[in-house]
Amino acid sequence: MKKYSFFLLLTLFALACGGEKPESGDKPARPNRGVVVDDGKGVGEITSVELNNPLNAEMVAHGKEISELKCAACHRLTAQRVVGPGWAGVTTRRKPEWIMNMVTNVEVMLDEDPAAQALLKECLTRMPNQNLTLDDARDVLEFMYANDGQPVAGN
Ligand code: HEC
Repeated sequence: MKKYSFFLLLTLFALACGGEKPESGDKPARPNRGVVVDDGKGVGEITSVELNNPLNAEMVAHGKEISELKCAACHRLTAQRVVGPGWAGVTTRRKPEWIMNMVTNVEVMLDEDPAAQALLKECLTRMPNQNLTLDDARDVLEFMYANDGQPVAGN
């Protein structure tokens, strides 16, 4: 009897853990999760970003507005860290896809992406999801490139 309840517990435990991973048990569908090579693009729906050179002035201006409204409380445009890291140099530290995924999929990034997790260890605050649309996030990215000194069209 004791033996049975032990196995029952084990089964329940396995089921509870399996609940977090919808495709668990389907090994071929996700063969090397965990040993997958980190491509630096982060985790999320953004797999490729086309960059503008020179930058699009309208997108930069809109991105600046959004960041003043939704990001400036925690991020300076310099290298200075307040709650989150300063944005100076972020476009050279990170791939554009990583930045977009960080902004639009931050919960998963903080749980699964090694670089995001390292930041969390430093900053000790979980960046909250600011619920930006993909277009808004893309404009903020454009602004980050401008902040890092990339030429803007018409300037
Ligand atoms: C409440 C504070 C807070 C707000 C608001 C916030 N962030 Fe963050 N952000 C953080 C923290 C803290 C980190 C570091 C990772 C962590 O600990 O979660 C971070 C990290 C980042 C990073 C990675 C920086 C790097 O050096 O790699 C990017 C990019 C970023 N945030 C973008 C944004 C954008 C865009 C917005 C606004 C739409 C925003 N954040 C709003 C706190 C915030």
